[in-house]
Amino acid sequence: MALWGGRFSSSPADSVFALSRSIHFDWRLAPYDLRSSLAHLSVLRSSSLISKDDAKTIESALKELISEVTSGSFAPIASDEDVHSALERGLTEKLGATGGVLRAGRSRNDQVTTDLRLFAIDHILEIAQLLTFLQDAILDKASEYVDAPAPGFTHIQHAQPVSFGHELAKHAQAFSRDLDRMHDWLARTSVSSLGAGALAGSSLPLDPQATAKDLGFVETFANSIDAVSDRDYVAEALFILSMVGVHLSRIGEEWTYWASTEFSWAKVADQYSTGSSIMPQKKNPDMAELARGKSGRLIGNLVSVLTMLKGLPFAYNRDLQEDKEPLFDSIDTLLLVLPAVTGMVATTDFDRQKMLDAAPLGFSLATEIADYLVLK
Ligand code: ARG
Repeated sequence: MALWGGRFSSSPADSVFALSRSIHFDWRLAPYDLRSSLAHLSVLRSSSLISKDDAKTIESALKELISEVTSGSFAPIASDEDVHSALERGLTEKLGATGGVLRAGRSRNDQVTTDLRLFAIDHILEIAQLLTFLQDAILDKASEYVDAPAPGFTHIQHAQPVSFGHELAKHAQAFSRDLDRMHDWLARTSVSSLGAGALAGSSLPLDPQATAKDLGFVETFANSIDAVSDRDYVAEALFILSMVGVHLSRIGEEWTYWASTEFSWAKVADQYSTGSSIMPQKKNPDMAELARGKSGRLIGNLVSVLTMLKGLPFAYNRDLQEDKEPLFDSIDTLLLVLPAVTGMVATTDFDRQKMLDAAPLGFSLATEIADYLVLK
């Protein structure tokens, strides 16, 4: 169903519809779109822009739609352009013309970015939780090996002996910076755009503060033109997720060479290893390699959104529809990678004797001897 076209004498060409369509990826915003529709409805109701009776009818239809979307009994069809169009179709199928009432004072431009902020906040919090699980796994391992001496490296050359627990714990430290970044990001992202309309706000007596509060946002937009075109929160989220990816990739790199025959420090559990289709003796640390490899697409997603935003005129431009797939992909990627890396870390055993034997090699105690002489 198209939400526009009243002044058009023909419907879009197939190629136009095919290129415009975003329902195949933005349908996952449906729960957030329905939530923001309920919030918009309550503002239309309290400002008496719609009758109490209409408001009641729309509210129960919206609630019905929420459970149908949850159960899967309402789903998009081929002619739906995007999530907003599909859900409005759902409402008009139930209510006829009354289903279109929610368009008053609202545009897809303020709607889509509100939905995306809600989605991003929920999912970044989920990733933050998975990161804390990974930190727990790292710190448990670090405690287990805190008394195990191992070579410490600079330039991948023996430098000074370190506690292997200290070596492992560094990864948890890096992830705490990512968690800090998520915390800062949340404050800037928890801003409602509803009420900004297409770009100029609305002459209707809406109450953007009330809508923001209703949706759990901390703040309301300050400039309506910025509100509909701001995707800083997408770019920032993609940077944070890339940074997490880079940190995971550095774990992946270490695990890979620690598991090599040359090092033989790490014994990765069978459950977190894979084999070879031709070489029966092989046991490969594929999870570590995928953790390293997936960082490429996370960085790619960041670059793709920054490039799309660069030079974009303000207010809404259709280019902005390209904000979603990179964000979804980075989130989905980490939702896959984090549990696998957490499991791999938790189940890897290290060879204390090998690390102990290697610790003093390469004159790695030279600095200690120099320090001893200084003290003398
Ligand atoms: N599907 C669109 C998007 O994701 C919704 C906004 C459409 N607005 C418009 N003016 N065409 O960006």
